[in-house]
Amino acid sequence: MSEPRIGAAALRALLGEWEDGRAVYVALAERVRLLIADGRVPARTRLPAERELAAALGRSRTTVAAAYRALRESGHLVSVRGSGSAAALPAAEAAASSVVDFARAMPPAVPGLDAIVRRALDDLPAALAAPGFDLVGDPGLRARIADRYTARGLPTTPEQIVVTLGAQHALGLCARTLVRRGDRVLVEIPTYPYGYEAFGAAGARLVGTPVTRDGWDVGRLRDVLARTAPTAAYLIPDFHNPTGASMPPADRDRVHAAARRAGTTLVVDETTADLDLGRPPGDGPFATRPGVVTVGSLGKSVWGGLRIGWIRADPGLLARVVAARAATDLGTPALEQRIAAAALDELPALLAVRTAELRERRDVLTAALRARFPDWDVPDADGGVGLWVGLDAPAGSVLAAAAQARGLAINAGARFTIDGSCERFLRVPFTAPVPQITRGVGLLAEAWTALRDLTAAPHGSRRAPDVI
Ligand SMILES: Cc1ncc(COP(=O)(O)O)c(C=O)c1O
Repeated sequence: MSEPRIGAAALRALLGEWEDGRAVYVALAERVRLLIADGRVPARTRLPAERELAAALGRSRTTVAAAYRALRESGHLVSVRGSGSAAALPAAEAAASSVVDFARAMPPAVPGLDAIVRRALDDLPAALAAPGFDLVGDPGLRARIADRYTARGLPTTPEQIVVTLGAQHALGLCARTLVRRGDRVLVEIPTYPYGYEAFGAAGARLVGTPVTRDGWDVGRLRDVLARTAPTAAYLIPDFHNPTGASMPPADRDRVHAAARRAGTTLVVDETTADLDLGRPPGDGPFATRPGVVTVGSLGKSVWGGLRIGWIRADPGLLARVVAARAATDLGTPALEQRIAAAALDELPALLAVRTAELRERRDVLTAALRARFPDWDVPDADGGVGLWVGLDAPAGSVLAAAAQARGLAINAGARFTIDGSCERFLRVPFTAPVPQITRGVGLLAEAWTALRDLTAAPHGSRRAPDVI
């Protein structure tokens, strides 16, 4: 396999507005650390030679050499064969647990799941008497997932369901089944990063279409579909991650019709669809329209630790998914499937608990952010996992780095894009328990104050950046 590498121009684009008022080499090293830590520059990626990066950034080679030296010292850069350098995650950092995790929007298990787990494992001997894993999914679980679609207004049979190891796995399987190397795939900007990475890993060339908290620019989306005729389009129409937007039924019809005309398969990610905190009623699942592939999960509504997700699609496509699957995994564990089936039997009650909990956390987060950051644009969210917060400067990555240094893991808005845009945004999840939310907002405020102090400091050798 060829080694991943990033060119100087691509790295410059990812760096964005990286100067933050400190010595230039310090700011450069810190931004590269952030890109490595949040995965925008994956570990083992070869970085450009010092001379090339210096030219691309319009800086001296000495500056870039000093930044690379600092990165080597902190364990973020290692030498590789020949004369190159590759990104690395220091062992301590890879293992380190931050004080507060705002990077993953993953709630702990829904209250009440412990009793369900115990009940589901009552007849453990029967479960242990079988091989305990399978490629397609337990028939009882597939029937329950199908019934849930039917109850939501989309008649579904178990043959239209394959159980996966979470939605992420489902996206990877869809990407590998639908996409051939070099095919175009449309993704939203911003979007769930591991979603676009799943399609990228299958060899797709990604094309983007914008989403804001106000929703989709459907004219633009239809135009991109018509112009680029992508093989697939990856959409999150219900409580879009990260913006929280939901696509109105009329827009769904228009997007669906345009995708049909372009020969594009819509891959609709409903991982966050059950997290409704007070949205006006819609018209049910997107896949009431024909030809749509849906990905679902119990990860947010019940527990991510179950690693139970699924694909709903035509049996013909699912047969190809299953055929492609065994090369990388041999199936979903039976015990988790039993627990998932038992949880689905009680899903309405569990969702009532989950949404009440998320409503409280959302309210605490919204109030805390508005109190601490009166100049930020903190939205009202009617569902999903987090707030897509507008900063009063394009400083998302500098702030994420400063927060990380204080023990708060958080992703800059740019992490959710394929083009380094959205530096004016930060996704702040409301999935953590209230004390962690409060602590996290406090750390964020400390980081923001430190950045302001830095840029307000008398200059001397410092260049006052225009980012804060
Ligand atoms: C939109 C979206 N899709 C997929 C996933 C992955 O979910 P799972 O834990 O089921 O793999 C997430 C998790 O953060 C998500 O937000």
